[in-house]
Amino acid sequence: MSAVLSLRASGPRHFLDLKDFSGAELRALLDSAINLKHTRRTGKKPLTGKTLAMIFEKPSTRTRVSFEVAVKELGGDAVVLSAREMQLGRGETIEDTANVLSRFVHGIMLRTDAATKLHDLARCASIPVINGLTELSHPCQLMADIMTFEEHKGPIAGQKLAWVGDGNNVAASFIEAAARFNFSLRLACPAGYMPRAEVLDWAKAEGADVQVGADPAWAVENAACVVTDTWLSMSDSEDQAAARASTFAPYQVTAGLMEKAAKGAIFQHCLPAHRGEEVAAEVIDGPASVVFDEAENRLHAQKAILAWAME
Ligand code: CP
Ligand code: NVA
Repeated sequence: MSAVLSLRASGPRHFLDLKDFSGAELRALLDSAINLKHTRRTGKKPLTGKTLAMIFEKPSTRTRVSFEVAVKELGGDAVVLSAREMQLGRGETIEDTANVLSRFVHGIMLRTDAATKLHDLARCASIPVINGLTELSHPCQLMADIMTFEEHKGPIAGQKLAWVGDGNNVAASFIEAAARFNFSLRLACPAGYMPRAEVLDWAKAEGADVQVGADPAWAVENAACVVTDTWLSMSDSEDQAAARASTFAPYQVTAGLMEKAAKGAIFQHCLPAHRGEEVAAEVIDGPASVVFDEAENRLHAQKAILAWAME
């Protein structure tokens, strides 16, 4: 791992949010991810003898599988825990859970809809804690997204990207990525579904080139990449589904909208996707779509994070 990352202060190497890292540190992680991708079959086993506990309070396909495969390909092992089946789900404190897991394993990945739990876990654990998605952010996803963008469109610094839809957890991490990787980001979100003011204020203070509006056509103008996500996230109530479907209808990424982006623009989506809702089938299943590269890159990007955090 690079000198930049090895300079990090002592204490567990948590991976909680992109904003906690410098652009150089995140770039070093991406360089490591690319190297791990190229050496997937022949690479070293830096996590031999190490175990990762993965706690899921919410469903997952990609995060669940990519983390387990990643840690195993790096020579380590994984224990997958559903919070429902843990004493955590019956009122055991985060602090006690953190202390106990710190005696058994060498790292914890948590997916939760309460970011405070993630931060409490990181505060109490003596081992690295990795954010596997909260209601506020999804930093591992963004590492894969930036890696995928660069594989298709070259260095991301100075490029224009567009987010169309809900200003949700993935959008928040996109905003943090814009600040750290120096790209320009326009977000088109309906009123009431803009990214949180705290995230936008942070981006402004960082001098990031992040603009928010309501018009998808404005957002995608000259964009090299158009990104969207589900209209209803796991932390949102199902009761909102109908109201959201009507509010978000004008925000569907259609072939017509893609035509308004830059020539050769790519389409990204963290998945799972809902064809006919946030994206038209002809876009996500068409030539501009890089969604399965994105999904694959979760594996490589997370290997870099795991190796950095747990080696
Ligand atoms: N993109 C993503 O995190 O997918 P899962 O919910 O399947 O893990
Ligand atoms: N915004 C989505 C992302 C899923 C990976 C959610 O939180 O459900």
